[in-house]
Amino acid sequence: MCGIVGYVGQQNASSVILEGLKRLEYRGYDSAGLAVLQDGKLEVAKHIGRVEVLAKAAAPHRFHGTTGIGHTRWATHGGVTDANAHPHVSSDGKFALIHNGVIENYGQIKKFLLSRGYTFKSETDTEVLCNLIAYHYAKEPAGGQGGFPLLECVRKTLRHVEGTYGIAVLGIDFPDEMVAARKASPLILGVGDGENIIASDASALIGRTRNVVYLNDGELARVPPRNFTVSTLDQTDVSPVVDQITWSVQDADIDGHAHFMEKEIFEQPQALENTMRGRFSADGSTAQFGGLNLTPAEFRQVDRLQFCACGTAWHACLVAEHLIERFARLPVEVDYASEFRYRNSPLDRNTLFFVISQSGETIDTLGAMREAKRKGYRVLAFNNVVGSSIAREADGGIYQHVGPEIGVASTKAFTSQLMLGAMLALYLGRLRDLSFNDGVEYVNALKAAPGLVRRVLEQAPHIRAIAQRFAAASDFLFLGRLSLHPIALEGALKLKEISYIHAEGYPAAEMKHGPIALVSEKCPSVFFAVKGEIFNKVVSSMQEIKARKGPIIAIATEGAELPPGLADEVIPIPDCHEAVLPIVASIPVQLLSYYIAVERGCDVDKPRNLAKSVTVE
Ligand code: F6R
Repeated sequence: MCGIVGYVGQQNASSVILEGLKRLEYRGYDSAGLAVLQDGKLEVAKHIGRVEVLAKAAAPHRFHGTTGIGHTRWATHGGVTDANAHPHVSSDGKFALIHNGVIENYGQIKKFLLSRGYTFKSETDTEVLCNLIAYHYAKEPAGGQGGFPLLECVRKTLRHVEGTYGIAVLGIDFPDEMVAARKASPLILGVGDGENIIASDASALIGRTRNVVYLNDGELARVPPRNFTVSTLDQTDVSPVVDQITWSVQDADIDGHAHFMEKEIFEQPQALENTMRGRFSADGSTAQFGGLNLTPAEFRQVDRLQFCACGTAWHACLVAEHLIERFARLPVEVDYASEFRYRNSPLDRNTLFFVISQSGETIDTLGAMREAKRKGYRVLAFNNVVGSSIAREADGGIYQHVGPEIGVASTKAFTSQLMLGAMLALYLGRLRDLSFNDGVEYVNALKAAPGLVRRVLEQAPHIRAIAQRFAAASDFLFLGRLSLHPIALEGALKLKEISYIHAEGYPAAEMKHGPIALVSEKCPSVFFAVKGEIFNKVVSSMQEIKARKGPIIAIATEGAELPPGLADEVIPIPDCHEAVLPIVASIPVQLLSYYIAVERGCDVDKPRNLAKSVTVE
């Protein structure tokens, strides 16, 4: 979603901001803009389209100031127009502001400001903020002649605001500072040497500093080049904690790949190693986690688990449900975070709550987590982004450790979430009835996962050829059973989000109850046909598709005996332990979707309408 970069220091602010905005492009946006303080004025450029368009307009000779703010906008209130792009400037020309989030009571505020003579140029909710800051500045004793500090005007403004925000503000009477504030929209302060940066995402500032302060909800920062301060809406000073980002700028680089998505697909063996590192017991029979903050005895009190997440992470919850119920014999509920937070579902007393979120900023997942905590439940999280809102608000959790995921379509974060779900199932199973020997076998199987994934990745050229054959299809079905039903859902999601082909995931046997109506020569079905007790049932479902002339792509266990001629294409995957199977089976659908999207000329890393981290409801 929208991205924020602000700079105050000694360098040309527009260059630093444009560099940061380029690194935020992956979040999804439709317009970009920046404002720089120079010669006692605000110089502004903003345009619909890519950051390159903005970069052309913001030539360094025009933008020479050393304090500035920049933004990439993903439209919520108001269409995609130059006027609606950020920064917005107050009608008296004194303040510029960028904003992520939604101001819910902007209608009332706008009415008030109009009655006081302020004017508006855009249809956005954001523009009320800069005008309200201007109003507070002008109202103060000295009549805006050096009266109230910028920080206080912003603070007063935010006290009237309902909704969510991450903002950065400049004022022409405050040449060497910016003010930033957040509520439910991430904001990080990068602390440099004689310079400071504000960003909505660490990747925007990692090229300049690794020392960061994660602002908390309800906090404001006054940011000059040195000696920033943090305080709350009710004027309490906060002692900021400076953290270190552990990954490097290279981790966020494309590294010779055509797309970040391709890079991240091929990084998965290493990512899985990183997720597992140091997390098995010395006797090799179970998993161990440092940050769950629950003792084994407390885990034994748990009767039920509730998982919540969105999108791909929700699919990871479904796989965790399968494995935990199978190996730990504990009942698991899975809910969409967006539904859970409003449907007031009855929860058993001894329920342990888990949320899964790569970004740790998805507003619905955060909302579900807060709702569970409000009801007194303990909430644990699987999360990739260190210092994210979910990581900080959870009662405990497990970091995925897969490095930054830049491709909008999640790949390495997903398989790492599958790995953590499998490890959790093992841990809980070993606290109950899973034997030592079964535990050892399970651990060895997990340790083998990176190697198995590597073997599937070697089939990339074969999968690319299949993608070329079917890239013109208008519909796809993805069909799998048991733990591979969520992978069928994930395959369908991956394909539709990056190639814009209509795709549906279903449990293979459910296909007869509706989706079979879609089947034709133009609608390929991707089947997971893996060895085991339901193999023959899946083969029967394949026969039913074949009888209706539907092309079949079978992702089948090596050596599985499919009737000759049943599948039009076969992608073999290694035979493996049930806990690892969803991980291994994910790779072919990721590659298939990726190559189909490339074949169709789609912008894989920036799919239309999508955002990497969904920070609005
Ligand atoms: C799809 C995808 C999304 C995310 C979802 C949740 O490829 O990436 O469906 O999984 O928006 O995001 P996180 O995990 O950041 O909460």
